[in-house]
Amino acid sequence: MKTEDLFVDTPIVPVVVIDDIDQAVPLANALISAGIGVIEITLRTDAAFAAIEQVARECPDICVGAGSIRNAMQIGQVMDAGARFCVSPGFSDGLLDEADARDAHLIPGAGTAAEALQLYERGYDFVKFFPAEVSGGIRMIKALSAPLPEISFFPTGGITAELAVDYLDLDCVRCVGGSWFVSPDRVRAGDFSWVTAQASAALRILGDRPE
Ligand code: 3PG
Repeated sequence: MKTEDLFVDTPIVPVVVIDDIDQAVPLANALISAGIGVIEITLRTDAAFAAIEQVARECPDICVGAGSIRNAMQIGQVMDAGARFCVSPGFSDGLLDEADARDAHLIPGAGTAAEALQLYERGYDFVKFFPAEVSGGIRMIKALSAPLPEISFFPTGGITAELAVDYLDLDCVRCVGGSWFVSPDRVRAGDFSWVTAQASAALRILGDRPE
């Protein structure tokens, strides 16, 4: 299976920060009720590994992945915890070698043509475009994609519901990621109905797009 196929049914990927392990399953369930089938749990908190493990074990209706991967060792750790994909803000030889060795679904990050090309040379044709908005956003992706038509992008960083629509209108964008509908403050406060409402609203806007 190609990595991008994991996102076919879910064009918006929640990039989440979990402080408290007790928030993981309710958050995943709030997303599932909105119709979201994927979750990226970032390795930015101590609770992240346990959160991945719990969601992988208890929520079969959501495909759990790990975000903010920064070193090779984390790839094995998150896969052992049950992550089905790994996302990194960038890449290094060590990270790419480990992903090859473990046959991991890694989505490495690129913000320039040189980085996208380096990744393509290593066999990646699906890359995270990060940090999307401050790196030039939609105009930058269009510019990158013209000479690099084989590559498709997963933009994240500064995306909102409205911007998501415009990104997803580009042929080279399969899905977008973001925290706008999984605000860490709301998650911390246990406001999961807010998450469901925001995620549903975002999917509704996307569903209303002309084909
Ligand atoms: C990421 O890791 O992809 C970003 O932190 C998500 O960006 P956002 O919080 O600006 O949506």
